[in-house]
Amino acid sequence: MKIKLGLIFGGMSTENEVSVMSANSILKNLDKKKYEIFPIYISKNGEWYQYNNLENIEISEDMDDLNKIENIMKYLQKLDVLFPVLHGAYGEDGTIQGLFEILKKPYVGCGVLASSVGMDKAYTKVVFDKANICQAPYIYLKQYKDQYTYIDKEFNEKKVSLDEAVDIVEKEIDFPVFIKPANSGSSVGINKAKNKEELKKYIEYAKRFDKKILIEKGILGQEVECAVLGNDDVIASCVGEIKPADEFYSYDAKYQNENSKTLIPANLTQEVSNEIRKLAIKAFKAIDGKGLSRVDFFVEDKTNQIYINEINTLPGFTKISMYPKLFEAEGIQYNELLDKLIELAQE
Ligand SMILES: Nc1ncnc2c1ncn2[C@@H]1O[C@H](COP(=O)(O)OP(=O)(O)O)[C@@H](O)[C@H]1O
Ligand SMILES: [Mg+2]
Repeated sequence: MKIKLGLIFGGMSTENEVSVMSANSILKNLDKKKYEIFPIYISKNGEWYQYNNLENIEISEDMDDLNKIENIMKYLQKLDVLFPVLHGAYGEDGTIQGLFEILKKPYVGCGVLASSVGMDKAYTKVVFDKANICQAPYIYLKQYKDQYTYIDKEFNEKKVSLDEAVDIVEKEIDFPVFIKPANSGSSVGINKAKNKEELKKYIEYAKRFDKKILIEKGILGQEVECAVLGNDDVIASCVGEIKPADEFYSYDAKYQNENSKTLIPANLTQEVSNEIRKLAIKAFKAIDGKGLSRVDFFVEDKTNQIYINEINTLPGFTKISMYPKLFEAEGIQYNELLDKLIELAQE
């Protein structure tokens, strides 16, 4: 009996297109003898569609190949395993995982808690602080009407103007700083500020994407990533390095600029790279991760200090994405990796 696998992609986030690319790769590489595949596209406005043409998923404007699913619960009920190939809000943040839990269906990847902690950069920080994993100094702000609320490390709140917020940042961290909406992905809404004026501008920009905003010290160093796989027995891949074509790994550098390069393995000493693998597993366990995640770090040039940046519970999954490439370097082929993830979901 083939496993009835629901491959869910697209989604209501800014990363809809990225998800379609990942899903295309996965679909092509899944063993059709093992799985009966049900591709499900979620449109940007949250409508669910079943896909008829399995050969080449391409989401066109007229959506010729798509049939709207009227009763989502009923449709999912007939499947054995669900594979959310979704990034960002409503896909990577625990919300859809909640739906799968209610349906009592096994699904690939992290559960509700790990997904939401991993998605919200403010809460990821709290957990990593608690786990004693070094991260860049940061300030947490919330947009409050036309003002801001500054939230300190004990969650005490103080209402501040934008100028006062900027003063707090300047007092606590050195420029350059990174300004991030707490719920971002693919670098959307993220900017690097070298001075107060830019900082002001980019805080106002970030608040278009989320009420919660993080401002972090910019770390000058290598940007590296480590993939983890497993439920209770978790393995870490070798470490890979990102060489962004831009000043940082912006949306453009990630998806549009071919001059961005990845390096596997990263140019690091064995010692640093082993430490990163350990920290990746530690971070994954700290958020209660299951299945898979890609854990991203910086290694500071001057000090060799390792800083954790973030954990991605549903990382990019095209054949050339870092997550599958890191395991490929370990001898686990893309299709084997898919089998393994589906097995872990059923565990
Ligand atoms: N503290 C930092 N120091 C240096 N570079 C940073 C820092 N934070 C983010 N960046 C750069 O911005 C990119 C996007 O930030 P990240 O937190 O990874 O957001 P996303 O979830 O959108 O990928 C990173 O890949 C990195 O290039
Ligand atoms: Mg990132």
